[in-house]
Amino acid sequence: MVKLRMEAIILSGGFGTRLRPLTYTRAKSLLPIMNKPMISYLIEMLPDTVDTVILAANYKKHQLEEYFERSNTDKTIIVNDEPKPLGTGGAVKFAEKYLTDEFFVLNSDIICSLNLSDMIAFHRKHNAVATISLWPVENVSEFGVAEIQENGNITKFVEKPKQEDAPSNLINAGAYFLESSILDYIETGRLISMEKEIFPQIITDTERFYGYQFKGYWMDIGRIRSYLDIHQYLLTKQNENNHLGKNLLNNGTLNKTVVGNDVIIGKNSKIEKSIILDNAIIEDNTFISHSVIGENSTVCSKSQLSGVVVGDNEQIGTNTIEENKLFWTQEIPKEFPKKQIGNVIGG
Ligand code: GTP
Repeated sequence: MVKLRMEAIILSGGFGTRLRPLTYTRAKSLLPIMNKPMISYLIEMLPDTVDTVILAANYKKHQLEEYFERSNTDKTIIVNDEPKPLGTGGAVKFAEKYLTDEFFVLNSDIICSLNLSDMIAFHRKHNAVATISLWPVENVSEFGVAEIQENGNITKFVEKPKQEDAPSNLINAGAYFLESSILDYIETGRLISMEKEIFPQIITDTERFYGYQFKGYWMDIGRIRSYLDIHQYLLTKQNENNHLGKNLLNNGTLNKTVVGNDVIIGKNSKIEKSIILDNAIIEDNTFISHSVIGENSTVCSKSQLSGVVVGDNEQIGTNTIEENKLFWTQEIPKEFPKKQIGNVIGG
């Protein structure tokens, strides 16, 4: 019998170190993409059979609670507050009490065209214990690459292989459909990587670990580069030159740019291929390209910024000329790690 209730765990507890300084002030999964929090794309992607979403949260979890108190969704949202970062595996184990049978696990930082209902059908057809989504990449040497049989059975992962040694060009795309029996593989209360510790063990023990390939698009929004790229991709896909929020006061010129709500852009200013977040002020005679300007930040007049990321609530002085730089002058949150803790997908 097909079960009508199902849960999805969305892994939203990472610090997002590669997206700093934007993640100094916000949970990575609330970072806006085309003026909509990243996590809302994941929620919209879930099939109707998923009625409960468990947000595996840690860093900035209150922001997630506040966001879902305000937003409308027909699904039950549970913010599962991890006492400390438990890693992708530990976070799944920590959600065990909410799981009834099979369930999804989704990284919160992927934007893709994966059809999760088709993935369930594939999983059931193969009588799998675990099915993971797979995406083809050109440069395999930065990723864990799947060795896969013709029927979709994954026999191992090879970490960061040389191009010529790679068993395929397929990488873990960050969405899993799992039977509850896999929870027995995960120890309680310890930092555990699903990808590095649990999946290899399941592959060794069973022949029921499958990879589901899909077509369309996939992007891991883990880095500033991909954060900018997804906007260019979606602008083109939606056939828009710019994507503008509410109450924009614009006296400048915009090209391939996404602007949040309540933004002011001064006279003779030119902005291209950039993201301007809510309440930002761009003064007169300013040129900005391939950059992200944080919420409530001001770029003073006659500045020229290229490849720059300005954190929230910052002020960039008049006549500033900078390239490829992160701007952050405020205190860094105490709990924020000095370097990346782990990287499940690569890149
Ligand atoms: P970086 O620091 O830039 O690598 O970002 P990250 O901390 O988000 O790590 P990564 O991109 O590798 O994480 C992939 C997914 O797992 C993201 O959706 C993270 O939010 C999530 N994640 C990573 N570590 C944890 C954790 O310890 N607990 C929980 N609940 N989620 C996590």
